Amino acid sequence: MNEYDLLVVGSANADLVVGVERRPAAGETVLGSDLAVHPGGKGGNQAVAAARLGARTALLARVGDDAHGVLLLDAQRAAGVDTVGLLVGGAPTGVALITVDPSGDNSIVVSPGANARLTPDDIRAAGSLLAAARVVSAQLEIPLDTVAEVVRTLRPGTRFVLNPSPPAELPAEVLAACDPLVVNEHEARVVLGDAAGDTPEDWARGLLKLGPRSVVITLGAAGALTADGRTDSFVRVPSPRVDAVDTTGAGDAFTAALGWRLGLGDDLATAAAYAVRVGAAAVTREGAQSSYPTASELPPEVPSP
Ligand code: RIB
Repeated sequence: MNEYDLLVVGSANADLVVGVERRPAAGETVLGSDLAVHPGGKGGNQAVAAARLGARTALLARVGDDAHGVLLLDAQRAAGVDTVGLLVGGAPTGVALITVDPSGDNSIVVSPGANARLTPDDIRAAGSLLAAARVVSAQLEIPLDTVAEVVRTLRPGTRFVLNPSPPAELPAEVLAACDPLVVNEHEARVVLGDAAGDTPEDWARGLLKLGPRSVVITLGAAGALTADGRTDSFVRVPSPRVDAVDTTGAGDAFTAALGWRLGLGDDLATAAAYAVRVGAAAVTREGAQSSYPTASELPPEVPSP
């Protein structure tokens, strides 16, 4: 029996959030709302999202020895995440500068700080943590070498989920371990380049050819598409309709829920049907971690057409 349903290896950022009527063009200044500071980072977000749903969750990440680091540690603990793998020091805590417009869409600039100092050595030193997890999930706000070391350290039978965000060219050994690779349209187009095609089915087909065992394309309000390379089946998963207030971190909540449910034994489409409900709930409240639902707060499942 594994000690953790989900181990998240990834970033932890302090999110500095300002609401704007519209984003400034180059050379322009706009006035925004009061500043809000929230715990964030794609790794920290995934860990909190999974723990809030009831998953036994741990986070392997690095923060600075500073006030933002304390904020992030407290947020993880409050959500019930095991922080034995939260390393401290080496650089200031990562910071994300986020603007949110009236439609709930966001733009983000990340200063990685301590996230960039989460090294392959840190992964090797955390071998027992990795060995205790049923599912390991990563993103790309930490160095790609570190993610590659995660893949090399995985025990047979441990499932690996990757959201390549922000997107980068991925080595074959990382792609081959993904089950699934989780991307939105933007990430799919960057990974696929000119050969991307026009539809989610095109992107999934192209991505499967790169080597992952399965692919999930997130489609925002339209839900998700799953593509299981073992069965050649493509499934469109609709999302509940909700009024979006802030989409920040919704993809992280989706991926965390997906990974957790896969570890419990759901097939890919069933896990995605659960995860779209988590993502939909997350966009109805402000912030990333502050917006994540408990299992009892999820909107009902939408039957597939
Ligand atoms: O995915 C949302 C996250 O991206 C934010 O919390 C921010 O920290 C950036 O990492």
